[in-house]
Amino acid sequence: MAPLRGLSVLVATLPSLAWAVCPETSPPYLGVAVSTCCAALASYFPDSTFARDNSQSSTYYREKTAFWSATEWLDPTCVFLPSSTDEVSIAVSIFSEEGCPFAIRGGGHSAIRGAANIDNGILVSMKRIRDITMSPDNSTVTIGMGLTWSEVYPAIEPLGYMVVGGRFATVGTGLALGAGFSFFANSHGLAIDNVAGHRVVLGNGTVVDTDAEHHPELYWALKGTSNNFGVVTHLTLQTVPHRGMYGGRVTYPPSVLPQLKRLTYQYQVETAERDIDTHVLPSYVYDGATNTTYGFSPIVYNQAVDALPESLQPWLDVEHDNSTIKSNSYVDLAEELVAGFPDGLVQTHFTFTVYPNESYLSYILDKWVEFCSSISHIEGLTGLQTVMPISTLAIEKSGINNPLGLDRAEPGRPLTVFYLGLQFNNVEDIDEVFPAWGVFIRTMEAEAKLQDLLFPYIMLPYSDGTQQAIASYGERNVKRLQEVQERYDPDLVFQRLVTGGQKIPLNPPS
Ligand SMILES: Cc1cc2nc3c(=O)[nH]c(=O)nc-3n(C[C@H](O)[C@H](O)[C@H](O)COP(=O)(O)OP(=O)(O)OC[C@H]3O[C@@H](n4cnc5c(N)ncnc54)[C@H](O)[C@@H]3O)c2cc1C
Ligand SMILES: *[C@@H]1O[C@H](CO)[C@@H](O)[C@H](O)[C@H]1NC(C)=O
Ligand SMILES: *[C@@H]1O[C@H](CO)[C@@H](O)[C@H](O)[C@H]1NC(C)=O
Ligand SMILES: *[C@@H]1O[C@H](CO)[C@@H](O)[C@H](O)[C@H]1NC(C)=O
Ligand SMILES: *[C@@H]1O[C@H](CO)[C@@H](O)[C@H](O)[C@H]1NC(C)=O
Ligand SMILES: *[C@@H]1O[C@H](CO)[C@@H](O)[C@H](O)[C@H]1NC(C)=O
Repeated sequence: MAPLRGLSVLVATLPSLAWAVCPETSPPYLGVAVSTCCAALASYFPDSTFARDNSQSSTYYREKTAFWSATEWLDPTCVFLPSSTDEVSIAVSIFSEEGCPFAIRGGGHSAIRGAANIDNGILVSMKRIRDITMSPDNSTVTIGMGLTWSEVYPAIEPLGYMVVGGRFATVGTGLALGAGFSFFANSHGLAIDNVAGHRVVLGNGTVVDTDAEHHPELYWALKGTSNNFGVVTHLTLQTVPHRGMYGGRVTYPPSVLPQLKRLTYQYQVETAERDIDTHVLPSYVYDGATNTTYGFSPIVYNQAVDALPESLQPWLDVEHDNSTIKSNSYVDLAEELVAGFPDGLVQTHFTFTVYPNESYLSYILDKWVEFCSSISHIEGLTGLQTVMPISTLAIEKSGINNPLGLDRAEPGRPLTVFYLGLQFNNVEDIDEVFPAWGVFIRTMEAEAKLQDLLFPYIMLPYSDGTQQAIASYGERNVKRLQEVQERYDPDLVFQRLVTGGQKIPLNPPS
């Protein structure tokens, strides 16, 4: 791997940078440091560094607004688009030497303000790192972190393979650093549990490759902690043999919510357990314009068949407006599904985890509809609730192989993860919506706790910034993560300088 790149080494070998790092020009004042870092990047990588330029046709402007949620449209001092691991390594060396705050963007689908963008710091977007390499025996594929899932799938599906990645086209690889629900959730577990290795740039610029044998503690720690240990430039993913797929999306009218509630519960506790080649994403949409709630559901069978198996048939027996179910490819389905999720609106979503219980699932849907109705005057208001099982098989696979702490679940019981989201048009409405929404979520969690159903896991990729996702992994795992941090990021570069998104608690929870 690339040798250590301390900045002093760089300065000696590349004299053009010397001006940028001489002591007089780099006092420890943030603003000055950031402009120093941007200037250093610009001198090294003139074609990859973009200074602040708010004309709408500029690369800078395009990159700073290339986010799903308007909550992530911030104002970086400059944008850096590295093309290789070596370029990332040099950049991180500069940032840590100079104390420059930076953000790491994968696919830009986090809604947490500052998770992958930054005011007055450097936005590092991975989008130019996009190589895809199959291993000689086709058992793994290594992908650059700038790819989206709909860019990965067409490269591997024709070869007869898939990976345990995202279900929506434009979502990025950050999914496989956080947890990751996929079309293969019931048979293969979470995306992080199908990562065979990472290539990662540490805080001092050193590049390391992790896998089960090499840097095993870092390999473990990177499964569920997103940007806390380094800039990941590549993931090596276990491949899944492509056995054909039959699936699509079914849309249901408001009148059948009672039947959908029942199917949603049954899917959590029965179908996902019994028929592991099925994938259903039960979803409810509140439409503010009509003050109504309807259902839709991606429904997938991971085999080459020409009709849904019996286990999924009930989803078609319920009255529905339409179905796009057919012999399909994963990339086509991912493109179809993402069509309803445009960029640039205000997004907020929370998540929490319960042991599935039919009356609670029904209760939370009713309460959520009631909450959405109470703010139906908000322009463009749309709510989304999805109800996703982590099957007992997935929990077993997770066990001690990742830090999430799913091994704390009662043996033999599946879990259900809620995605509870709102979307609307104008940032001016944030102050009215967000506080009430946060209170609503806490009451729903409290109710689950009261009914003895709450499981203490906050799934990072669906979490809100006010939720403590990593602390939810439990004291034992947090302590172990802190030990890995001490070893691999002793200067806390990724705590101090990469401030956005979910962070490892600095102190063990008491
Ligand atoms: C429309 C939509 C559909 C979704 N579908 C699914 C789904 O099917 N399954 C699922 O599990 N989740 C899904 N999600 C949630 C998704 O996993 C998260 O939004 C995730 O954060 C997206 O990753 P990203 O790379 O696009 O996001 P980003 O916002 O770019 O990154 C997320 C976090 O990871 C960090 N990060 C990203 N890349 C790197 C890197 N290379 N090195 C270090 N840190 C990095 C960022 O700093 C940031 O904090 C969906 C979200 C949306 C909006
Ligand atoms: C890998 O996949 C390619 C493309 O499908 C195929 O031609 C090749 O035989 C496979 N190799 C192995 C070792 O299976
Ligand atoms: C929206 O519908 C609910 C019933 O689901 C009703 O109680 C409420 O009054 C309606 N709100 C508006 C603004 O029409
Ligand atoms: C399915 O039905 C819904 C509701 O009637 C409609 O909005 C949507 O456009 C339809 N989709 C397809 C693919 O026909
Ligand atoms: C669901 O929760 C309620 C309230 O705690 C409880 O009475 C009921 O037995 C639970 N149902 C199941 C199937 O666990
Ligand atoms: C860089 O950091 C890693 C992890 O802490 C450490 O193993 C390595 O020795 C460091 N390199 C140098 C030259 O400091």
